[in-house]
Amino acid sequence: EELTVAVVGATGAVGRKMIETLETRRFPVKTLVPMASSRSAGKSVTFRGENVTVLEAQPEAFKGVDIALFSAGAKTSRALSPEAARRGAVVIDNSSAFRMDPEVPLVVPEVNGRAALGHRGIIANPNCSTIQMVVALKPIYDRFGIERIIVSTYQAVSGAGARAVEELMTLTRSQLSGEKRPAEILPVSSLPVHHSIAFNVLPQIDVFEDNGFTKEEMKMVNETRKILDDPEILVSPTCVRVPVVTGHSEAVYVETEEPFELEDIYGVLEHAPGVVVLDDPASQKYPMPADTEGRPEVFVGRIRKDLGHPRGLNLWVVSDNLLKGAAYNAVQIAELLVEQGGLR
Ligand code: A2P
Repeated sequence: EELTVAVVGATGAVGRKMIETLETRRFPVKTLVPMASSRSAGKSVTFRGENVTVLEAQPEAFKGVDIALFSAGAKTSRALSPEAARRGAVVIDNSSAFRMDPEVPLVVPEVNGRAALGHRGIIANPNCSTIQMVVALKPIYDRFGIERIIVSTYQAVSGAGARAVEELMTLTRSQLSGEKRPAEILPVSSLPVHHSIAFNVLPQIDVFEDNGFTKEEMKMVNETRKILDDPEILVSPTCVRVPVVTGHSEAVYVETEEPFELEDIYGVLEHAPGVVVLDDPASQKYPMPADTEGRPEVFVGRIRKDLGHPRGLNLWVVSDNLLKGAAYNAVQIAELLVEQGGLR
């Protein structure tokens, strides 16, 4: 089967990785239709060594599209995903627009792939921090149950988009040369106050909610519950931006329901789909974003029992936020639809 595949947000940090992933995974694309804002219409992107012209994303552009991968922000998704679906496409949406909609499956193929087949035209790709955490925790959840998760993230700047990465570079360079340039984008471009990410960490990703948690943190709470289909599971996140370009890291502490032996944790993680265990303190082996960039898996290390709580477990979880956290997960969902007859 040869498909017409649209990528909306084709000029962005994630959109570019989506196109690259379609190519490296040899996804059966007959025609690639890259789309972005009117600002980018007429530019081109490279796919299989050829230049393909970027179109302005608008309803009529989705005629004949079988699969539409969206990563152009929630506003664009809200406006155009239903238009694409109405024209017969299956939308795989990387924005937050539809994730908590009860009619829209929220899918991580290794965790709840089957949910994808219940779609009504739109499937949501979860938040990057949530994806890598649930991939690592699912095998533990299935075997021992999980009561509670406490997670601190160390999130890369590329998750905030291509302009944020430019800001990291510019502010780092200017600080090294002794200038003092103001930040304009991070932590949240639409808010009046900005803080420099150069030689700094920002304990704010997205806007604050009334409960004192940020939107990013609440995504980790709510999306984890939906993906694991467990509305009771306790999740207590702190999301932090660090001056890393690509690769999110997470210090994850869980309390299981059943007691466990550490060797069983290694056992289930080593056999888990999409997980690579990298844990050898004696030779200083553990996952780091610099080593996992470009890899599609979720890496787990620093596996150890809590010192006090008998069912407490600590993990260090690292993955490429643009790949498993976004583009690769979306293309995996598309592959699942092709393999299991989930297209329309
Ligand atoms: P453009 O480059 O034309 O602005 P990032 O997450 O790296 O900031 O990328 C955002 C992506 O979403 C870009 O490809 C951007 O296109 C696209 N985009 C932003 N606003 C719109 C819009 N209103 N319609 C379509 N695409 C949009």
